[in-house]
Amino acid sequence: MNHPCYICGLGSFIPSRVMTNHDLEKLVETSDEWISTRTGIKERHILDDGVNPSDCGLEAARAALAEAGVAPEEVTHIFVATCTPDYLCPSTACVIAGKLGLSSLEGRKGDVMCLDFNAACTGFVYGLELARSIVQMHEDAVVLLVATEGLSRRTNFTDRTTCVLFGDAAGAVVLRSSDRNALWQVRDVVCSSDGSLHDLIKIGGGSACNIKEGDTVGPDWFISMQGMAVFKHAVRSMADESQRILERNGMSFEDLDLFIPHQANLRIIKAVGERLGLDESHVFSNVQHYGNTSAATLPVAMEDARRTGALKPGMKVLLTSFGGGMTWGSALLV
Ligand code: ACO
Repeated sequence: MNHPCYICGLGSFIPSRVMTNHDLEKLVETSDEWISTRTGIKERHILDDGVNPSDCGLEAARAALAEAGVAPEEVTHIFVATCTPDYLCPSTACVIAGKLGLSSLEGRKGDVMCLDFNAACTGFVYGLELARSIVQMHEDAVVLLVATEGLSRRTNFTDRTTCVLFGDAAGAVVLRSSDRNALWQVRDVVCSSDGSLHDLIKIGGGSACNIKEGDTVGPDWFISMQGMAVFKHAVRSMADESQRILERNGMSFEDLDLFIPHQANLRIIKAVGERLGLDESHVFSNVQHYGNTSAATLPVAMEDARRTGALKPGMKVLLTSFGGGMTWGSALLV
């Protein structure tokens, strides 16, 4: 039997340190005017030294658990969407589980499965599909899905074509089959990819980066991107995937209360909205304040939309994203 999957807690965490466009003017040859008109971004938040993506993820997770009324000990699965994990090993999910005091050892009712996965900026949508599959199969599952990124740790602050775009943040949701404290039901999710485009966005630091002790890291350690190619693909893929998920659920854009696309660039957000014929008031954006925080943009946007009253429990909302891989996908919440 396929059990329903409900989101019953949502939380986010934004590092307090702000980096404005004017701060970047002091680092590279750029201007607030260029960044604002090309991307819509005015500022982004950056991790302090000693604070890692797991710390931000932990704060977002605690907020989501508190809202769900779920004690950490009840969690059965922790999935972490990130392309900037604390370590290659252990997983950020295990680090967060440790900080939450979770263990599958004695004294617990059940086991806890911890897993990181990397679908770049599409991580939250991919994570909803993973969580939904687990909840559909296991009626008692309580899934903590965290999306956390420390992109500033892989940003080359001498490369003006990328350093103006990214920021750090985390978001989290709690999912389970019980509708107690339910905010939304995850009605459907679609996930896609095209690995032939894997060269368009890269973040180094993996095993392909053959660094020996004493070496200085080179440009391949950091984020690199073919901006215009990504831009074109982003608009097409998010628009097509959004149409696809609505069609297969017998819905149209008029049925939606809110459309929340990945927050990478205001021009991309506007282009997708225009392509789908959406009124601007139904398209949420907060990229101005955070830049692109990769997997974290969607849960952070959901939380901000909720704070402003644009998003309420039970509203019909369509999330869509694209990112490195290339990956893309959409999720329909009702
Ligand atoms: N300040 C000033 N000038 C700049 C800057 C800057 N920060 N960056 C680039 N320029 C210059 C370029 O050097 C170029 O100059 P030239 O004409 O003399 O060569 C000029 O501005 C135009 O550069 P373009 O790259 O053509 O600018 P474009 O309009 O394409 O905007 C941008 C660049 C903002 C990166 C855009 O292509 C974009 O948003 N692409 C999508 C990126 C994205 O969404 N990525 C998300 C995925 S990331 C992930 O998954 C982790």
